[in-house]
Amino acid sequence: MIKKCLFPAAGYGTRFLPATKSMPKEMMPIVNKPLIEYGVDEAIQAGMTDMCIVTGRGKHSLMDHFDKNYELEHQISGTSKEALLDNIREVIDSANFTYIRQREMKGLGHAILTGKHLVGDEPFAVVLADDLCINKEQGVLAQMAALYKQFRCSIVAVEEVPADETHKYGVIAGESLTDNLMRVTDMVEKPEQGTAPSNLAIIGRYILTPDIFDILENTEPGKGGEVQITDALLEQAKNGCVLAYKFKGTRFDCGSVEGFIEATNYCYENIYK
Ligand code: G1P
Repeated sequence: MIKKCLFPAAGYGTRFLPATKSMPKEMMPIVNKPLIEYGVDEAIQAGMTDMCIVTGRGKHSLMDHFDKNYELEHQISGTSKEALLDNIREVIDSANFTYIRQREMKGLGHAILTGKHLVGDEPFAVVLADDLCINKEQGVLAQMAALYKQFRCSIVAVEEVPADETHKYGVIAGESLTDNLMRVTDMVEKPEQGTAPSNLAIIGRYILTPDIFDILENTEPGKGGEVQITDALLEQAKNGCVLAYKFKGTRFDCGSVEGFIEATNYCYENIYK
């Protein structure tokens, strides 16, 4: 039912400099697969077919990754190495990739609004590739897409974090609907220490209804002088139709060096080996 998945991928990845000086942070590999490919795998597993990527300057290798490389394929054709291309070949065959460039970095809300031209007037998913989510049975986006079918509302994935880490995230407050689902009543982007409405942090998986675009067009810059998706979602929540979902699975913050190393060790032990 949800066909499109938006990947904001225009950021600089400054925490990984100098590695990200000329390489997009989304191309950093966890073992042998770039971060963004994990996100695309998750979207495909959730039945999505259109990957809409918001890129920026110097991100050509993202587009090359999701395209054929005839020379390489010719070179390794028929050798044992060919199997290493199985996943990416399948990805390229089962999804369409479209790109738009975000010319100025004005925040996540602005990046999502930039993607409007690719998404159009339909509900869509958003994946922040920095947040690597792993769940063997059913990926987080598939869990959320199933909920969307039932509720037809925007949905944010949330996770409990220690109180001294809430300032790094969008944080929600809500009324419980079930054990793992809430109706959002409040939402704050990166609250100051000690002021968070709960310890439920938004992680980088969203399902958004398309009215979010009109709201984003009228959302003033917020925290850090940037247009925040969290502020737009709070506006959308006024009609009672934003849900927060405590997902099943493990999430790694690959935007930090520590999280990146943890994800690498986990994937090496549990997936690669
Ligand atoms: C963004 C969002 C924030 C969310 C986080 C999840 O922040 O603005 O609400 O909690 O992603 O990773 P960023 O990490 O881009 O600063």
